[in-house]
Amino acid sequence: MFAPLNNLIGGLIIIKMKSLDLKISFEQYDNIGELNETDRMLCELAEQALKTSYSPYSKFRVGTAIRLASGETVLGSNQENLAYPSGLCAERVALFSIGTNYPDTVIESMAITAQTDNFEILKPVTSCGGCLQVMAEFERKQAKPIEVIFYCLNGIILKVPDVNSLLPFSFVEDRLER
Ligand code: THU
Repeated sequence: MFAPLNNLIGGLIIIKMKSLDLKISFEQYDNIGELNETDRMLCELAEQALKTSYSPYSKFRVGTAIRLASGETVLGSNQENLAYPSGLCAERVALFSIGTNYPDTVIESMAITAQTDNFEILKPVTSCGGCLQVMAEFERKQAKPIEVIFYCLNGIILKVPDVNSLLPFSFVEDRLER
């Protein structure tokens, strides 16, 4: 460990660095049958959303279902484009649709699943950093946790209590809001 130069006082190196740990808690289920009915239905809807995936380039389908406090559910799937960066992940497709159509509704939870014909997915597909950042913004805006369920069709399921657990160091700069 290197101490910064300004910590060098009278020949004595004072190391002010602190080593901290972050711990996250989440639940793990062996299969969809172990989930409560609400979560199971959300996972089934995420699986339904796979059908609308437009993924001719990666051949990797991603589906999400987002449950709102109003009881409604919004689906999303990845939408690719020949100009690759113009495509969008399933999570952001659904979240931006909620931002547009249900701007004041609280999001309770979201389930995410994936499928490809090229190989069997044996562990949950977790959201990319860009999607986590967008999920973090929705969570911060509503000041209520969003549960995230990563549903592997042929493997374990992870249930994380909030987005902050997944991205504890998301970009936050309150002064930009002024
Ligand atoms: N994808 C998602 O839909 N969500 C993620 O969180 C990561 C990746 C999509 C993007 C692309 O269409 C395909 O999966 C392969 O990367």
